[in-house]
Amino acid sequence: MRFLKKGDDKKPKSEPEQETKGHPDLKVISGSQISGQRPQQPTQPQQQPQQQNITLPNIKYKIAVASGKGGVGKSTVATNLAISLANAGGAVGLMDADAYGPSIPTMMGVQEQPKVSPARKLIPLVRHNIKLMSIGFMVAEEQAMIWRGPMLHSSIRQLLSDVEWGELEYLIIDLPPGTGDVALSLTQAIPLTGALIVTTPQDVALADVRRGVAMFERLGVPILGIIENMSYFLCPHCNEKTEIFRKDGGKNTSERFGVAFLGQIPLDAEVCTAGDIGVPIVAGHPESPQSEAFGAVAQELESVLEESGDDDELTIL
Ligand SMILES: Nc1ncnc2c1ncn2[C@@H]1O[C@H](COP(=O)(O)OP(=O)(O)O)[C@@H](O)[C@H]1O
Ligand SMILES: [Mg+2]
Repeated sequence: MRFLKKGDDKKPKSEPEQETKGHPDLKVISGSQISGQRPQQPTQPQQQPQQQNITLPNIKYKIAVASGKGGVGKSTVATNLAISLANAGGAVGLMDADAYGPSIPTMMGVQEQPKVSPARKLIPLVRHNIKLMSIGFMVAEEQAMIWRGPMLHSSIRQLLSDVEWGELEYLIIDLPPGTGDVALSLTQAIPLTGALIVTTPQDVALADVRRGVAMFERLGVPILGIIENMSYFLCPHCNEKTEIFRKDGGKNTSERFGVAFLGQIPLDAEVCTAGDIGVPIVAGHPESPQSEAFGAVAQELESVLEESGDDDELTIL
């Protein structure tokens, strides 16, 4: 699949390098520099994709956060979950693989350019005790993200292999919405421990969950669980819960697929504001009921991983 501007139906003479903010050492290499590596279409069910030659042995759990559609709060969940896991004592990295709309820099409140180590690797930025790397650090914020398939593929690989992640217990990877090339590139690059699927409780969102689950099934990636976001409104005055959307949609969907349900996150203005100002709620208000909800999801995730003991024992649907 190729991502070209509208009307740009001719193959460019040479692949342009993605424009950077001017850092001499930072550039997203063009696809032509990768020798014959192209994303493969997942045609065979249960097939482990090829080219998993980035092993990252110092990272215990590599977990993708996915959603069937955009705007369900995937990046919000990824950031707050990462901080909750770090609060519980683990060393955590957060990789923003949303090449089309990287939001981790804004949500974590960091816009600097990463430095380069003597070994010519990018040094992750650290905020709220999390090691961060994002395509957003390398590409100007206002720049339209138009990626050719191979370029996208190579930049995902760079975020994994050309970054000094060091020893981590968790690497949380925030994917773009939907079932696309980035998920494919990621599963081709590293053996993922598994995927988390974020949804809202409405039927329309849940239909997309099924597509997300089906994609990971085809790629042979275990589903670690479903997280339902914007589940209910918690009145800040009387603490009464109001179910705005259909009740327990995510929970019922998890049961139908036989995967773990990791918990519900309330719809809350502070969760949204916290993301906008770059201090996720779990970092800014760790004692709040909203942060407790994220903490409970983190704990459930830890139990799923502990119970599985070995990656191979996780449910491959
Ligand atoms: N639980 C929540 N309560 C209130 N607002 C939320 C919640 N989760 C996400 N949002 C807001 O919804 C918008 C979309 O969330 P985002 O995490 O960017 O979604 P996605 O990554 O799935 O596209 C953001 O403005 C975010 O702050
Ligand atoms: Mg997002």
